[in-house]
Amino acid sequence: MPQTDRVKIFDTTLRDGEQSPGATMTHEEKLEIAQLLDEMGVDIIEAGFPIASEGDFKAVSEIARATRNASICGLARANFKDIDRCWEAVRHARHPRIHTFIGTSPLHRAIPNLDKDQMAERIHETVTHARNLCEDVQWSPMDATRTEHDYLCRVVEIAIRAGATTINIPDTVGYTAPRESAALIAMLLERVPGADAITFATHCHNDLGMATANSLAAVEAGARQVECTINGLGERAGNTALEEVVMALKVRHDILPFRTGIDTTKIMNISRRVATVSGFPVQFNKAIVGKNAFAHESGIHQDGMLKNAETFEIMRPQDVGLNDTNLVMGKHSGRAALRAKLKELGFDLADNQLNDVFVRFKDLADRKKEVFDEDLIALVLQNDASQDRLKLKHLRVICGTDGPQKADIVLEIDGQERSATATGDGPVDATFNAVKSLFPHGATLQIYQVHAVTEGTDAQATVSVRLEEQGRISTGQSADTDTVVASAKAYINAINRLIVRREKTAPGADTKTVSYRDAG
Ligand code: KIV
Ligand code: ZN
Repeated sequence: MPQTDRVKIFDTTLRDGEQSPGATMTHEEKLEIAQLLDEMGVDIIEAGFPIASEGDFKAVSEIARATRNASICGLARANFKDIDRCWEAVRHARHPRIHTFIGTSPLHRAIPNLDKDQMAERIHETVTHARNLCEDVQWSPMDATRTEHDYLCRVVEIAIRAGATTINIPDTVGYTAPRESAALIAMLLERVPGADAITFATHCHNDLGMATANSLAAVEAGARQVECTINGLGERAGNTALEEVVMALKVRHDILPFRTGIDTTKIMNISRRVATVSGFPVQFNKAIVGKNAFAHESGIHQDGMLKNAETFEIMRPQDVGLNDTNLVMGKHSGRAALRAKLKELGFDLADNQLNDVFVRFKDLADRKKEVFDEDLIALVLQNDASQDRLKLKHLRVICGTDGPQKADIVLEIDGQERSATATGDGPVDATFNAVKSLFPHGATLQIYQVHAVTEGTDAQATVSVRLEEQGRISTGQSADTDTVVASAKAYINAINRLIVRREKTAPGADTKTVSYRDAG
């Protein structure tokens, strides 16, 4: 068993998290999330999969240059080309890491059609190659939890001998259970020569809802790196959630005597930011970061809470960055109250930004009984529209049971007002058709998502839109109490961002040219 009680946190929101269908983030958003991860004390940031696309390569390189504390890691399949590209991207980091992997279970070995010996040889060659480039090499036998134990021990030993400094044991399909997860790490520590000289990592997917429990069990058995994502973002049912692991280690230190370097008070802010930029809202009852995680509705609970918060809370909201002083915001609130409230929510705005948000806040407060924290967050996260070529001036929509639905729209395009009318299959389709008739483009709509940020029929809807044009991707977001208006603004926002991407990037910049499943 390792002697240290320090568990490293390896965040893969920008790689595994970004692989969840629809969670693509823009370049700027990735840089921002990386900075927040670094500030909160994450040990290793897996910033992307450099060979997958020009966009991924650029994001990993820039994150490598910009990050101050964390190690920056890139993913590479088991071939020299991937590894060289990965190294090119991470080499500028203060602490670069190459993470290379191959699927070792029978099902995964069949894909590149390698037998056990051929795969063992491939692992030896590729890990050696990575180690010749970089001192810090992580190797993963993908689908480790469904790999024969003898073969797993054999290939882990080969990777260690070839120079891997971290061996990650992925439960790629979320198949294991806590006792088995612990036993696997214990077995590797016991059977593999040299295992005590490297760090074992655990990387769990959540297909059976056991990811966090499996990760913690692996730690108890000797793993000293947990791979996770903010809000548990990730393929299918997602990954172990960073906030769950970190808070479990903090709250149950009595039975889980391990520590991390995470500043837990930054959790809520980054969770909200990731939810917004990925377009994946956090479920209300999600542990730690869900809207209801610290809400008490029943009389008995409220009564208990008033007498002693510990009756129904095992951690304080402040521990994760929530403030319990509740400034209620409404149409009579002034600029100072708004500034204080936003600060409480993690936004320290410059004067001009505050003025801009204040105008939109007043507009919202006139239309809505109560302005909730989530409403304010949605307002702040709406983009500064001053540079936009397209602006929405007016929108009137006719909808209902007797179609066709019709939209009359006025846009300001490069300073000139222009109007159009269009019909469509529903009010949103009609609106998008009207925008397109005024500003024709070749982009296809990849994602359109709506969710209500607060409760009630006057809740703000936030809408996310993703467009793709010649391999360039842009996303747009907006919030409004009128869902169709929010949709129009999000669509226009995505077009404005696409125009910028056309100027700044080559066609294909955001196309993933390889899938990480082609692991051979
Ligand atoms: O789930 C998995 O196996 C992975 C590997 C690439 C480590 O994400
Ligand atoms: Zn994974």
